[in-house]
Amino acid sequence: MKRIGILTAGGDTPALNATIYGAIERANALKIDVFGFQRGYAGLLDPRVPHVHLNPLFTTIPELDPCKGGTLLGSSRTYIDQESTEELRSVQRHLKKLNIDGLICIGGDGTINGMQPIAEFIPCALAPKTIDNDLGLNYIDEPNEWYRTPCDENPGYREQHLPYRDTIRLEDIINYATPGYATAVYVVAQALERIRTTAESHRRVALVEVMGRQSGYIALGSAYGQPDIILIPEVPIALDQLVARVRQIYELQQHVVISVGEGVRQEDGTELGAVAPTYDPAGNLRYSGAADSLLKLLSDRLGDELFLENRSFEPASSALFTRKIGHTQRGGRPILFDRFHASQLGGKAVDILVSGDNNEVATIQYDAKSGFSLSSISANKLRDQWGEIHPREVHPAMYDARRMHLSAFGMEYLKPIFTNAIGADDMEFCRVQMFGPGNLTNRYQSVNIDIRKRIRYL
Ligand code: F6P
Repeated sequence: MKRIGILTAGGDTPALNATIYGAIERANALKIDVFGFQRGYAGLLDPRVPHVHLNPLFTTIPELDPCKGGTLLGSSRTYIDQESTEELRSVQRHLKKLNIDGLICIGGDGTINGMQPIAEFIPCALAPKTIDNDLGLNYIDEPNEWYRTPCDENPGYREQHLPYRDTIRLEDIINYATPGYATAVYVVAQALERIRTTAESHRRVALVEVMGRQSGYIALGSAYGQPDIILIPEVPIALDQLVARVRQIYELQQHVVISVGEGVRQEDGTELGAVAPTYDPAGNLRYSGAADSLLKLLSDRLGDELFLENRSFEPASSALFTRKIGHTQRGGRPILFDRFHASQLGGKAVDILVSGDNNEVATIQYDAKSGFSLSSISANKLRDQWGEIHPREVHPAMYDARRMHLSAFGMEYLKPIFTNAIGADDMEFCRVQMFGPGNLTNRYQSVNIDIRKRIRYL
């Protein structure tokens, strides 16, 4: 293996540069050249194939800062159409012309699905990333638990999961956490802490919408911000129970903070947020407005009296409010947990290619005795019987549906990730950088400008 290609695809996360950095440092040690492709798979399809030599003379280029969010390679949700022989041939031609011997794709479920046809003609490894924390399995044989039932809507079948195994062990989880998740939860927990005191002062009910699509890991992790109620997409909202709980908490403390996973559903299965498909081979959906829809349902059911009687002097329409944390969850400096594990996974992806494996995913495993370790799994093991890779859902054992909150096992799951997730330098960075006088005088220096000077074309 003399020359490796690397790309970042799908929605960005704060830890992408750290993964690229880990891969390059490992490649430097093994005297392997690394070429970065711009804008994910779109770069491979572009006839000019914009690319950057990331380690001339086996030295990492200084523009790559592992502590900076985003990706110096850029990302896109463009994927290669596996039905299009023309597209596949041109990707193969481009990689050959650049003498690429193996490809590292950094991404989530969309990226791994997009990698499948490429792995047919060149060795590929996936270094996982996604704030949604949904790349992996609750246990090894989970893909066999997906089944399809015919229906009238497109694509003619509905996918469902058999009831989950009752209990799992932390050691069973394949790919315990994905880089980006910890930083997203950090942002959410901070936001909840801040929203809390304003809801408390004004005696309001705050519905805070967090990302994660159909997976409730970010909502689950939001427990660190101490919301009163957590709603995850995996468990349909029992409206009567929710109304009763909100009323009870409001009567007790005159305000309520609810963390709402963006993909939450009603008991009949309808998703509360508006749904639009993304251009993604994982069939991912884009959600908007789950908290807004929930606000309408709640304010109708709670009525004005609760708020007027409890001295808020506001009707329900103004006592309830929503906030979407949005893309701040995906941006900015990655915290220590993400930086460390992202760079390890980048290095592991290089090792996978060097050892001669193909279509393999670098993973982080956990066990209570030895903590975190690196491993890998064949992408095939993540696929169901029809070849599809599903986003991992929060296992029912992690959530207490009765309390609408984290379960005891959920706590056990989160602790290894978050207990020491923030480094002293993360705090110092905030102290020194945020109000540095230079921020007032200097324009933001975009890495896109710096990297453009290094881009080469076929
Ligand atoms: O998959 C990551 C993610 O941030 C989801 O949590 C969210 O639903 C989606 O991407 C948003 O996508 P976009 O940035 O394309 O709107």
